[in-house]
Amino acid sequence: MKKEAILAKQKDYLWPNHILYYTDPLPLDHGDGLYVWDVDGVQYLDFFAGILTNSVGHNHPHVVESIRHQLDKLVHSSTLYPNETHVTLAEKISSLVPGKLQTSFFTNSGTEANETAVMLAKAYTGEQEIVALRHGYSGRSALGMSLMGHSTWRIGSSEIPGIKHAINPYCYRCPLKMKPDTCGVACAEDVEDVIRTTTSGRIAGFLAEPIQGVGGFITPPDEYFSIVSEIVKHYGGLFICDEVQTGFGRTGHHWFGIDHWNIEPDIMTMAKGIANGMPMGNTVTTVDIASQLVGKGLSISTFGGNPVSCASSLSTIEVLEKEANPDHVADVGNALRLGLEKLQERYSFIGDVRGKGLMQGLELVQDRKSKEPAPKVVDMIFEATKERGLLIGKGGLYSNVLRISPPLTANHQHIDEALGILDDAFRLVQRDF
Ligand SMILES: Cc1ncc(COP(=O)(O)O)c(C=O)c1O
Repeated sequence: MKKEAILAKQKDYLWPNHILYYTDPLPLDHGDGLYVWDVDGVQYLDFFAGILTNSVGHNHPHVVESIRHQLDKLVHSSTLYPNETHVTLAEKISSLVPGKLQTSFFTNSGTEANETAVMLAKAYTGEQEIVALRHGYSGRSALGMSLMGHSTWRIGSSEIPGIKHAINPYCYRCPLKMKPDTCGVACAEDVEDVIRTTTSGRIAGFLAEPIQGVGGFITPPDEYFSIVSEIVKHYGGLFICDEVQTGFGRTGHHWFGIDHWNIEPDIMTMAKGIANGMPMGNTVTTVDIASQLVGKGLSISTFGGNPVSCASSLSTIEVLEKEANPDHVADVGNALRLGLEKLQERYSFIGDVRGKGLMQGLELVQDRKSKEPAPKVVDMIFEATKERGLLIGKGGLYSNVLRISPPLTANHQHIDEALGILDDAFRLVQRDF
């Protein structure tokens, strides 16, 4: 189908609130590794990976083969019948997650994984209140939107009661107007303040992303999660760590983002990169916490643990282990980071460079003193990078953060190619700035 026909049908038959990137939206046709092609045959280097989801690139032969193999065997059975792919994947994930986390409940998306986590925390503690962070993104259900710390992503007013928001550790725009070297991580104490002033003082849990993804790759200081996790424990809550964007080696050195802070969450949620694009969410917890659900009611996910998605996830993890383990991500991510910092020296609209591994964000501002967000510059860079054959992402409450997050199989040549295109695009934009 030609591009114009696809766009016409999109307009006529899909809800208008589907966000489309680019002034002239880009219908993609096929992919191979780090590259995708649009329906006109134009090639792009993909540095957004379907929103941090194509962990091992497009159509990796091992992943494709595992999916084909499973398609020939069994596409669906429901979780009423045990299946080899389901149990093998659960066992594999338990070997990657920190501490006593062991047992999984698979669903189909990050939203569902977070829903499941909150349900578990409430059932386990017998409490109802949850503390989340401002600027967080948790999903598109009523609960997901209630947990959300972004007005932009909250549609309607179907608010779930009992959710309170603490300030986030956004050092570049400190909500307390303090300086990172002298603040004593005061933002972490706000979690206690929120619990003591806006809840019953007994919470079911605290939910946070190790690095806020949609929020613009906001990366907390080193001490943040150890302070917060103690506060949460003190008030009887479970720490729910949302690894939907940060999981599976994305942040380098470790399999999961929270490992950088050396914290063992009580519940971990994951999706996106878990199965290289096949739909899957997962909620992992300890045997003790999961066992508390027994006798409290039944739960089922028709498509959760789907054998094809499980096969895709297993083969994705195999490829990650062989070709793109967390040390590889740290190495390539370091090259990306150094390149971005060099660009920051040259282009005054780059206010902040942050993130870890292959999850790097650039916050763009009108000028570094006022830090006034520059979403229009992001738009200009978007068009310029697309024209030069590079796909990137954006985010942040003010839509002024470039999100750079290629498949984890990216190598140094890919990084150099992307940095070269970004440099060209920035130069063009600087001229008109
Ligand atoms: C951190 C985080 N949690 C949850 C979700 C929701 O995931 P899904 O879109 O798969 O429902 C997202 C989606 O972007 C996310 O980034």
